[in-house]
Amino acid sequence: MSHPSGIQLVGKLLDPASRADPYPIYAEFRARGPVWVEEMSTLVVTSYRDCEILLRDQRLSAERGRFFQADQTDPFPADAPASVRRPWFLSLDPPDHTRLRRLVSSAFTARAVARMETPVARLVDDLIDRAAERETFDVVAGLAYSLPVTVICRMLGVPQADERLFHGWSAQLTRLLDGFSDPGGQNEWVGGMVEMHRYVNELVADRRKSPRGDDLISELLAAEDGGDVLGHDELVSTIVLLLVAGHETTVNLIANGVLALLRNPGHLAALRADPGMAPAVVEETLRYDPPVHLTARVAGEDLLVGQAKAPEGSLVILLLAAAHRDPEANQDPDRFDPSRPQVRHLGFSAGPHFCLGAPLARLEGRLALTAFARRVREPELVADPPYREHINLRGVSELRVSHAGVV
Ligand code: HEM
Repeated sequence: MSHPSGIQLVGKLLDPASRADPYPIYAEFRARGPVWVEEMSTLVVTSYRDCEILLRDQRLSAERGRFFQADQTDPFPADAPASVRRPWFLSLDPPDHTRLRRLVSSAFTARAVARMETPVARLVDDLIDRAAERETFDVVAGLAYSLPVTVICRMLGVPQADERLFHGWSAQLTRLLDGFSDPGGQNEWVGGMVEMHRYVNELVADRRKSPRGDDLISELLAAEDGGDVLGHDELVSTIVLLLVAGHETTVNLIANGVLALLRNPGHLAALRADPGMAPAVVEETLRYDPPVHLTARVAGEDLLVGQAKAPEGSLVILLLAAAHRDPEANQDPDRFDPSRPQVRHLGFSAGPHFCLGAPLARLEGRLALTAFARRVREPELVADPPYREHINLRGVSELRVSHAGVV
């Protein structure tokens, strides 16, 4: 039997039937080395070593618009606020990326995240109390989905009465970040994006007039680096980035972690007995079933990766979820094993774009998984969960669990 071609493998990956388990397709890709898909002008990279090196290679650009621009018209209405057209620093290269990232990092600090430990623990407990009032509960709707939006809204100092607005907008924006699941280019996310920008524009203007000092927006307003500050539109665009980049990703971390634990009851029991295991469970989830499956760059010049060539201007897809199961990086990679002596993953990327929200995501993941293991008695998966259609931010749409009450 002949090998499937690169484009046939991509076709298999895009098939919704593959969503529940794309890992055998990733293994097929990996067995072939870097795969050049001529029909898409795209190189698909799957080995751990290649992904790690390329994420740090300055010949690759994060300005993905350079590849996609040709078939894109401006999707925003004429009266949308100017900030909506500001690119996120996630998609910028040095020196613009360096400048913005440095300014934002000086406000979004490890200390600001550590301050959230107690409020996040309380939120998790409230959500579990509420969810467990039913005989079976959905871990996505009851716990994973609302936690990250609520947490970032509290950090930013969004009035609590308005938090529900962000829950709605964020739901509309997931396809944008996924990048690979917008059937027919419907741009369904545009309305949510514009409304969110309008709201954040006003919030920032208000906060500028009456700073509170103890929230992330006030810190971002005060951020300064050698006399340089964030402009108004840069600030608004960054706040929207924090909301969007930190939502569906963290939902997946919590849901994928709970799912892996339910399917591996020995590790669930170990976590219940020793909450100190939680960081290892989080890292192993980020490796074994990561919230973000891939990222992409544009070749800034002709590249040679192994035997494969990627001409200047082509797209380079780094299949992080495939790299995590590379036996050269992790032994027995198809097994979920938080007790492995070393876990190597690129779940938060690597190099200059390494996830800025990693400490917050780790905190939320650790507290949610610990509380689930400790408090929910005899949890069992009711059925194999359904998956959303997202290719990149792949995750379950529902995770129904039966239980014997909570402690
Ligand atoms: C960047 C994953 C949570 C904010 C990234 C990247 C990945 C990632 C893979 C880099 C993409 C690339 O290299 O092209 C995740 C995962 C999360 C998570 C798996 C949850 C488990 C968060 C949270 C926030 C956040 C909670 C903030 C509230 C950001 C920002 C960037 C980023 C601002 C851009 C960094 C840059 O370009 O310099 N994230 N993320 N993320 N993430 Fe996260």
